[in-house]
Parts: sequence; structure tokens; C-alpha cells
Amino acid sequence: MRISRRVAAAAAAMAVVLPLSACGGNDDSGGNNTVEVFTWWADGGEKAGLDALVGVFGQQCPGQTFRNGAVAGGAGSNAKQVLASRLQTGAPPDTFQAHAGAELVDYVKAGQVEDLSGEYDQWGLRHAFPQGLIDNLTYQGKIYSVPANIHRANVVWTNKKVLDRAGVTTALTSMDQLFAALDKVKRSGVAAPLALGKDWTQLMLLETVLISDLGPQKFTGLWNGATDWKSAEVAKGIDDYKRLLGYSNQDRDALDWTDAERLIMNGRAAYQLMGDWEAADLDAKGFKDYGYFTFPGNGKTFQWLADSFTLPRNAPNPDGARCWLKTVGSTDGQQAFNTKKGSIPARTDADPAKYPTYQQSAMADWKTFAQVPSCAHGAACSQGLQGAANSAVAKFSTDLDTAALQNALAQATSQYATS
Ligand code: GAL
Repeated sequence: MRISRRVAAAAAAMAVVLPLSACGGNDDSGGNNTVEVFTWWADGGEKAGLDALVGVFGQQCPGQTFRNGAVAGGAGSNAKQVLASRLQTGAPPDTFQAHAGAELVDYVKAGQVEDLSGEYDQWGLRHAFPQGLIDNLTYQGKIYSVPANIHRANVVWTNKKVLDRAGVTTALTSMDQLFAALDKVKRSGVAAPLALGKDWTQLMLLETVLISDLGPQKFTGLWNGATDWKSAEVAKGIDDYKRLLGYSNQDRDALDWTDAERLIMNGRAAYQLMGDWEAADLDAKGFKDYGYFTFPGNGKTFQWLADSFTLPRNAPNPDGARCWLKTVGSTDGQQAFNTKKGSIPARTDADPAKYPTYQQSAMADWKTFAQVPSCAHGAACSQGLQGAANSAVAKFSTDLDTAALQNALAQATSQYATS
């Protein structure tokens, strides 16, 4: 289907003389001026961010037409499988979303993405992003993607009215305070005050509890083999996490992050741990009564992840894809995208005054806080390790067996750890 449509499109294009793409120079795309952009940003704040970026792409790449290849499902839960099979069968999109760090390296090692070091030189991007982020996009000296943003994972989102009704007025800075607040909200009549979704959202919650209990450095070591999963400290962290599960909705294993978010919006829960795409999504959905704070006990730690875009090997329209990538890395592209997506720009030259209040605070924190990578969103973990960790926490959601979770994560880490 896909191939025959492309052949038909190419044949039709041969009948007319098309202008060269604004960014592409020599057109090596056989007259195909459609750029299929593959993401999982299909709805709400995620789509609002993508739409804004597409607007700038339209201005910067007038000869090219955007085609939306989004596959819905939070954190790419469906999209990544669809993408893997397309890459394996030689039917790549023109560009796809990949997380900076270990997840991107998977695609590099599989030979599925092109080296963009030359484009970085040509577009002046080598000094546009923080060096630490560039390092996470680099494998064996070559740079493989263009970052659109930096997201923060360790944020708690609240329903202010639910908290007011329960009489929770103080900021929470420790796990003990969080448990006390959850009890208070429960006493006010909210049966499951902590909104939670399925596997990857549970992994995010476990990660933030472990940041609180182990501190940023030991937490980071969990994913590269430097910290032992089987220690007593980790067992205590998992027990704290287990205690938190007791405050969450029973149907958690069936919910995506947006379903859990709805529990916040309709007042059936008070708190949700989620990345800051939630700020954009709540805004896009017109929900105003929300608050946010760093997960209690995380202190001055910024758990990060970054969305970046690649040039797949054998992309049907590489010139068009390059123009998309140039837009992604541009000041205008980053501003249009990030003001709608809840994230902060990856570029260091952005003007905070042009961003919403939440992003202004995140931009300030990014500069001064300790940075730790997210496993659930590919910064710390390869796709194999993410998948194994998701399965392990999903099993734990039913059996609540601390030692079994420690063993599963220890085994997965040693199996998939990359240096
Ligand atoms: C992350 C992604 C974010 C956001 C989130 C929820 O993996 O990096 O941009 O889309 O999933 O779907």
C-alpha cells in the first residue's frame, strides 16, 4: 500500500516541474516533497506542540508538505513497536522521534539512523545545545539526532480544589509529608488520592521514590550497574513505593497517563506524578486548578529526558527530512514547540520571558539542579531495559513482591547495561 502510493506520487510529480526545497539544495528525493514525521504526539498538549512546530516548518520549508505519522499511546507504548517493524521491513518514515541517550544508541547500533555531524556544522548547532545533551546524542564521535526539548520527569501535579477541601496547605518536601498528605486527602473522602496508570507510569513513580531514598548519584548508578539493586536501601525504596501504590486507583494497570490525568481533572484524585508534558496537556484541555511541585524528597534534582528527531537510513525524502530537522533545531521552531509542549528548549539561547510560568521555573531549575536521567523515557535505559523494567513493575503491581522486583531489575540491568 505504502510503496504503491509512493510510486504513484512520484509518477504524478514527474508530470510537473517542482521547485527545489528551500533547505535541501540538490533534491535527492525523486520529486517526493512529503515529509512523514513519526511521533506518538496524537492528542492534547502533545499534538498542540507538534502542530506549532509544523507551523514553523511550513514557513521555513515552503516546498515541503508535512505528513502526520503519529501513532497514539503515551511514551510511545504503541508507536515504538510500529516503528521497529517499519524499520526492519525497510519502510522508514522520513524522520522519527527518539529519546536522547541509551534509546537513541539502539537505533545507531542497528544502523537505522544517519550521522548528522555534517548538518550540525552546516547549521551551527554544535554550540546551540548544552554539551551534556550533545554527549547523549553522540555515539563514537558522531551526532545522530536533533533535540527538540528537555522534559522533566519528576514533577507532581495536583488538583488544588481537592487539596483545599482536604485542608492540605503546606508544600511537601519529604516522603513522610507526602504520606501524611495522602492520608489527609483520603480522610476528606477521596478513596484513591494518587492517580496512577500502567507499567511505564509506574516505573516513573518508582524512579522518583528511588531518587528520594538513594539520592541522585546512587539512583543514576542503578541503571549502569554501579548501584546494587539487591541492597537493603533499594528494598526500603521499593517498600515505600509499595506503600504509595496503596493510595492509588485499583484500575491503574489499564490506564494510560491521560486516563490517570482525568482522575485529577475530575477531582477523583489529588496527586499524579508525571512528566511536564502534563502542564501542556492540562492547559490544552482548559483545566486551570492545578499546582505542581518536585516529587517530595527529590530536593534539587531534575530528572530529565529529551525528545530528538532522526534521519532514518533510506528515508524516502531525506532533503525534506533535513529541512524538518533544521526547523526542530532552530530558535523559532524550539520556541513554537516548547511553549505548547510543557518542555523547555534544548537551545541555550532561548529567552525565558517568552515562555509560560511553568517552563520559566523549569528553565531556572535545569541550570542549577543535579541532573539525573530517566529510564522510562530512554535517557538512561536502552529499549530492551525499558521493556524489562516495565514488565517487572507491571508484575509488581499485582504480586507486590519486593525481592522479586529487586531480582528482576538486577537481572535486566546486567543483561542490557551498556557502557
Ligand atoms: C515521553 C515523551 C514526551 C511525552 C511523553 C508522554 O516519552 O518524551 O514528549 O510525549 O512520552 O507521551
